[in-house]
Amino acid sequence: MADAAALKRQAAEAAFADLEEGINLGIGTGSTAEAFIRVLGEHVRAGFKVAGVATSQRTDRLCRELGIPMRTLDELPILDVTVDGADEVDGKLRLIKGGGGALLREKIVAHASAKMIVIADETKRVETLGAFPLPIEVNGFGLTATFLSIRRIAETMGLSGEIILRKVGDDPFITDSGHLILDASFGRIPDPEAMSAALHAVPGIVEHGLFIGMCSEAVLAGPNGVERLKS
Ligand code: A5P
Repeated sequence: MADAAALKRQAAEAAFADLEEGINLGIGTGSTAEAFIRVLGEHVRAGFKVAGVATSQRTDRLCRELGIPMRTLDELPILDVTVDGADEVDGKLRLIKGGGGALLREKIVAHASAKMIVIADETKRVETLGAFPLPIEVNGFGLTATFLSIRRIAETMGLSGEIILRKVGDDPFITDSGHLILDASFGRIPDPEAMSAALHAVPGIVEHGLFIGMCSEAVLAGPNGVERLKS
């Protein structure tokens, strides 16, 4: 049976095969995105022309190390395609993202793109979003008030579950944009649109990891090959 790394590479190669030369490309964050960056780097070394915009400092560093031409989103504010990973994908191509903590920049870059392609191994495909804790990027000011607002939203929707501050060792995890992350284990999110709207109404929440109406295609690799879900 193919191991996880081989499946990520398979999804990455399948997504790369559909890309046209000369595009402005948003480049995701995480281990599957990294597999894609390595595939892309190999093609760039072989002469493939592309201009990349990274969704995180980590991705930007790796792309530059591999010789991929990189620009900032301000230099290239209109992108053709973004290729990124996901923590969960449902049948309507709604996603949970942010396991790697890059959700804000990932969402900004995806929103600036005509198309967002998600690459993943097939274990990321779910019936209902929410088994993966929902990452919520928050401002450090008023953290407890924001935490209580999220708990109230969950209760209103009949959901419960732990909400924890993401940490690295003993210290809070700090995002590339200087914010904190709360990981909310709701178990399942039956109405992601309502959850998204409710979370967006909380001033202390900078962004959340529900990506709705953004992904146009998911390339999912499994032991029997690659499956493509399209909107
Ligand atoms: C990064 O913040 C995330 O959104 C990743 O895209 C997501 O966590 C998937 O990561 P893996 O490809 O490592 O599973």
